[in-house]
Amino acid sequence: MKIGVVGLGFVGLSLTSVLSSKGYDVVGIDIDKEKCKKIITGISPFFEPELEKGLKKGLKKKLKISDNFSLINSCDFIFVTVGTPQNMNGSIDLSIIKKAISTIGQSLKKNKKKPIIFVKSTVIPGTMKKIILPILEKKSNKKAGKDFGLISNPEFLQESSAIRDTKFPHVVVLGDYQTKFMKKAKIFFMKLHPNVPIIITNHETAEMIKYANNSFLATKISFINQLSNICQKIPGANIDDIAKTIGLDPRIGKLFLDAGPGYGGSCLPKDMKALINFANISGINTTLLNAVEEVNTKQLEQIISLTKQKLGNLASKKITILGTAFKPDTDDIRDSIAIELIKKLLKMKAKIIIHDPKAIENTKKVFGDKINYAKTVRDALSKSQCVIIMTQWKQYKKLNNNEFKYMEKKIVIDCRRMLIEKQLDVDYLAIGLGKE
Ligand code: UDX
Repeated sequence: MKIGVVGLGFVGLSLTSVLSSKGYDVVGIDIDKEKCKKIITGISPFFEPELEKGLKKGLKKKLKISDNFSLINSCDFIFVTVGTPQNMNGSIDLSIIKKAISTIGQSLKKNKKKPIIFVKSTVIPGTMKKIILPILEKKSNKKAGKDFGLISNPEFLQESSAIRDTKFPHVVVLGDYQTKFMKKAKIFFMKLHPNVPIIITNHETAEMIKYANNSFLATKISFINQLSNICQKIPGANIDDIAKTIGLDPRIGKLFLDAGPGYGGSCLPKDMKALINFANISGINTTLLNAVEEVNTKQLEQIISLTKQKLGNLASKKITILGTAFKPDTDDIRDSIAIELIKKLLKMKAKIIIHDPKAIENTKKVFGDKINYAKTVRDALSKSQCVIIMTQWKQYKKLNNNEFKYMEKKIVIDCRRMLIEKQLDVDYLAIGLGKE
């Protein structure tokens, strides 16, 4: 069996790495020639733990990487994993997936097999039937359900654990009619992920499951962030103890209750906006989802307000930001709250120096020489008047008085409560901690 993966971003390249390292005959395809050239040498275009290991293993086996779409002509399964970014108004931008589907449709004409096309990209409900399917049938002159299969197969992996999540997903969702293609798909996934629940449903429900998942996660984060703001007004209150305790209630669950600067990244903010936009167009008033978004946006203002509380006017103040990646173990800064924070602080004419173990290069692409970059945390803190911890990189947990020694003013704003247990000779403020 031959498998094609179209679009080599986080989802596509993780899938390529996992399947090819297991010995499947995989061809990974991306229109970006330079990206392909890099991947062929076993190097990932972005940092993701364990990804390169699998990729190198795959390349020693049967894995091919190419920008040539005609290679999918001989595939039995084709996974579509291209990005679905957002338009300025928050609605989903389907231009990339339409183009990819168009090309796949043309190649279907020549495909002598009856392949199954799995769409992993996140798309708003109705897209598969109203947009993807008609394009494929028109371009290929073939019929879905008869000449080829088309299955919605949303992806739930998280960056920084993408390989583990690809190998061990919590669920497999397959959306389509009950056709012979669905039977084949089910057998494939049962073998790939034994003991993982497989949910078989229709396209629209599968599309909506993905949005339900991400909007619920965003809701949990905004909920705990709002509570953390209340805690800050209660001397001695600690949001982590509260989260830990309510998390023990099985009806609530312990994950995604980590208060912080708000949710960022390439998925939650974009998917929330796309869902709200889609619902509003459908005549639904999204009161709850709007509030989740609003709490998230305002969380940044909380951080600025804490900074001002300590430094007064921020013009010319030297501020260190620790962590610009939207979460640890990634170099991804897309929709990172730290990046938004720096933009706001620059508008207030603050002087910024940043440190991040992996995301400096990406951060430079946004700010160039408007800010300073430090190779070590100690350099980043030297002569600074305030440090704001944004990303919970493990190494920041080790910070101690020695590191803070050379700060001009020892003000620490800890958005992730990483140093809460330490006896530090600093003026310490943390999100979710009521100052006594
Ligand atoms: C998310 C979904 O989790 C995943 O299922 C989907 O497939 C893609 O989108 P990802 O973007 O990799 O994954 O990041 P995630 O780990 O969900 O974190 C998103 C943001 O929420 C980060 O900014 C993170 O710092 C923040 N977050 C997460 C919190 O502030 N608190 C938490 O408890 C959890």
